[in-house]
Amino acid sequence: MCGIVGAVAQRDVSPILLEGLKRLEYRGYDSAGLAIVDNENVIQRIRVLGKVNQLQQEHDNSPLSGGTGIAHTRWATHGKPSVSNAHPHICREKIALVHNGIIENHESLRQQQKQAGFEFKSETDTEVVVNGIYQALQINPDILEAVFETITRLEGAYALGVINSDDPKRLIAVRKGSPLVIGIGIGEYFIASDVFALLPVTQRFIFLEEGDVADIRRDSLVIYDKNRKVTERPINVSELSADVADKAGYRHYMLKEIFSQPDAIAESLKNRVDEDQVVISEFGQNAESVFSQVKAVKIVACGTSYHAGLIAAGWMEEIANISCHVEIASEFRYRKSVVTESTLFVCISQSGETADTLAALQKAKQEPYISTLAICNVAESTITRESELVFLTHAGPEIGVASTKAFTTQLVALFLLVIAIGRNNGVSKEDENIFVRQLESLPGRVNQLLLHKDEIEAMAKNFADKHHALFLGRGSFLPVAMEGALKLKEISYIHAEAYAAGELKHGPLALVDKDMPVVAVAPNNHLLEKLKSNLQEVQAREGKLFIFADKNSEVEASDSVVVLKISTIYDFMAPILYTVPLQLLAYYVAVIKGADIDQPRNLAKSVTVE
Ligand code: AGP
Repeated sequence: MCGIVGAVAQRDVSPILLEGLKRLEYRGYDSAGLAIVDNENVIQRIRVLGKVNQLQQEHDNSPLSGGTGIAHTRWATHGKPSVSNAHPHICREKIALVHNGIIENHESLRQQQKQAGFEFKSETDTEVVVNGIYQALQINPDILEAVFETITRLEGAYALGVINSDDPKRLIAVRKGSPLVIGIGIGEYFIASDVFALLPVTQRFIFLEEGDVADIRRDSLVIYDKNRKVTERPINVSELSADVADKAGYRHYMLKEIFSQPDAIAESLKNRVDEDQVVISEFGQNAESVFSQVKAVKIVACGTSYHAGLIAAGWMEEIANISCHVEIASEFRYRKSVVTESTLFVCISQSGETADTLAALQKAKQEPYISTLAICNVAESTITRESELVFLTHAGPEIGVASTKAFTTQLVALFLLVIAIGRNNGVSKEDENIFVRQLESLPGRVNQLLLHKDEIEAMAKNFADKHHALFLGRGSFLPVAMEGALKLKEISYIHAEAYAAGELKHGPLALVDKDMPVVAVAPNNHLLEKLKSNLQEVQAREGKLFIFADKNSEVEASDSVVVLKISTIYDFMAPILYTVPLQLLAYYVAVIKGADIDQPRNLAKSVTVE
């Protein structure tokens, strides 16, 4: 992971770099640093253990100033979070470098460089790159050539920003396996891990492609492709506005994002349904023809996006009569799998940059899938660019590390996909009209549910002193329970597990006692009575139950049972609705525990390393 920013300009670039880092903090936040070539052509550097705010404070105390600079916010992979492991790394006061990714062959390069007399000051995989560039410069004093020479020796994934005190008005950028964009100003250029970092200074961007190297000066930009041929890349004008990072008065981004779900869902449906029908062309020009041939669906994703896939698989089989298999991307990418005839490959990713999901997509493109479809929230991401068909969830930028509105909008997108594929497999026009109207009712339903926030906050008090929690669900609500458990562990650091309620007696029931809160999701469906029996098993062992139940489910509160009643909703839509109180529960538990909700420890928003 990690976020990188760089700039070459006439003006002092340090405020641009610091603002860029703040906007990239979702990518990692255990340490941060910046390096600037000052007016005497000396590289000056500040690094801190901690977040960008601390870097800002250090910088306020002793500011750096200069027209060329690079900066980094880190999510540790090789070497613990520390000042010495923080980027930028510098070699012999000449070269400074920031890196996002992993250098897989760093051990062998380190041994070679030690033999050549280099002393290592960090435990990172990155330091071999800056040393390598310095070594190459001793043979050819041109920084671009030195970078070209060095990257031929690197294995792994890397986005790099490199500056050189002997060539102070120049910035070299490299993209291989990790994202990197170039921002175009007037007489100035910038680089960053994403466009969001640079929105305060430009709306015009070039997305580097795999293997690209950019030679950037204030007034010129030359891009070389992976074969070192000068190439042109298109300029994209972003429609995002610079102030999307505003908390809008909410205490945390996560809370703002939970409360913005009605709008996010409405936005994700806008222009995607027309006269109660799905607009299939929203999945891509070819979608209609591809979908008419689909005989099976394979979904691959990570984390929360994987949970969305699990819910969609239930819909796909039940509504569209299409076999659907869901797999975790980090497993799929290394497994030999059999592709059955006319199978559509679907990857789901909020960020569109998740390394495992991207690798899974790349693998799928080599296999005989009928087509690849990305469901993604970031238009300019690598996954959307690599996929044949794309459906963009219009959730708006999600800043909190815990995914909330991205998840519910992914579910909306997946439901539209199920209808679109189902049209050729038994979904009638009348069914489709009903489904679309139900989807359109969701923003209002979510709004009503959000009104119960105080009850959920009160419920959260029961969890704050607990170390473990169980989440139970059945059918499509098992992945809802899984998502609830993931949210709780991610932001409150309480160990939480989700189980199919029917599995309780096959092992986890042994864990249940008065100290084990058990959360259950109980819509009024054909599995309700089965679920109730499972919950009896918990009560009989003194387990305290917290049940999110349909108001007609006849689940009543008692000393050991807390119930939040939810008004009845069409069964297929219920997983979307029932997710929301679980998000709020995790949020309020984390608030009580005083956790760092938007930036939980050890995590990052965009997981661009495997
Ligand atoms: C969820 O709250 C997580 N932060 C995480 O599981 C996330 O969903 C996962 O890393 C996948 O990310 P993506 O959707 O951007 O690919």
